[in-house]
Amino acid sequence: MEKRAQLYAGKAKSVYETDDHDLLIMLFRDDTSAFDGKKIDQLDRKGMVNNKFNAFIMEKLAAAGIPCHFVKRLSDTESVVKRLDMMPIECVVRNIAAGGLVRRLGVEEGKELNPPTFELFLKNDALGDPMINESYVEAFGWAKSEHLAKAKELTFQVNTVLKKLFLDAGILLVDYKLEFGVFKGEVVLGDEFSPDGCRLWDAETRKKLDKDRFRQGLGNVIEAYEEVGKRLGIDFDN
Ligand code: ATP
Ligand code: TYD
Repeated sequence: MEKRAQLYAGKAKSVYETDDHDLLIMLFRDDTSAFDGKKIDQLDRKGMVNNKFNAFIMEKLAAAGIPCHFVKRLSDTESVVKRLDMMPIECVVRNIAAGGLVRRLGVEEGKELNPPTFELFLKNDALGDPMINESYVEAFGWAKSEHLAKAKELTFQVNTVLKKLFLDAGILLVDYKLEFGVFKGEVVLGDEFSPDGCRLWDAETRKKLDKDRFRQGLGNVIEAYEEVGKRLGIDFDN
């Protein structure tokens, strides 16, 4: 497969066209950011760790019947994905209160949320990814309502699969963000699933094993990502 022009460069990944119009190459860089790009750094090995982490999770989700853009891993830091027409929306599910929910509502961090919550955010760094709702998506035409409904259904299906996958490894899936797009009329999970876009706590000690280590300056960020990966059985050496 031939790597062609860069389509766009985000804060953590770069996306390239290929000789196949329907396929893109996604490069996971070592760049990391938080607070809508206000805190940035480079973390050694991050691109490789997140690429392998994401490949492992996407394969589990696809095996559970969830349509995913992931095609194959190309190298340590690159994967081939289907070219989606991305919805400019982030779908967030929370099983346990943390982060923005705690700040917004003043609830206690760690409170179990049963049933889990579902939230939508607009992908817009300049506006700080504001929280939106289903009627906004319809009124502003950000996605077709049937596509949004499908994305919501798939976001909860992902929760069923991943809550168990992580719990079996002694890890709590606290919350996560997913992005969807449309490929030939079908709603498909895009972007990535890695400790950059979710919260993962050790089930016994509640130690944070995700990007909050970077946000809060706790150190050992990539070591924590690798610890989660190893507990899941991911081989980062191959
Ligand atoms: P954020 O960090 O807020 O998600 P970003 O744009 O900085 O935003 P990156 O992950 O660095 O994020 O960039 C990847 C970009 O590629 C995102 O804009 C994402 O929506 C887009 N993208 C992900 N998967 C696909 C796909 N299959 N087809 C087309 N674009 C995709
Ligand atoms: P949230 O608690 O709303 O935001 P913050 O990261 O500011 O505390 O985020 C909930 C989960 O979704 C968390 O695991 C981070 C992830 N997320 C992203 O990765 N990117 C985003 O733009 C948003 C809104 C959430």
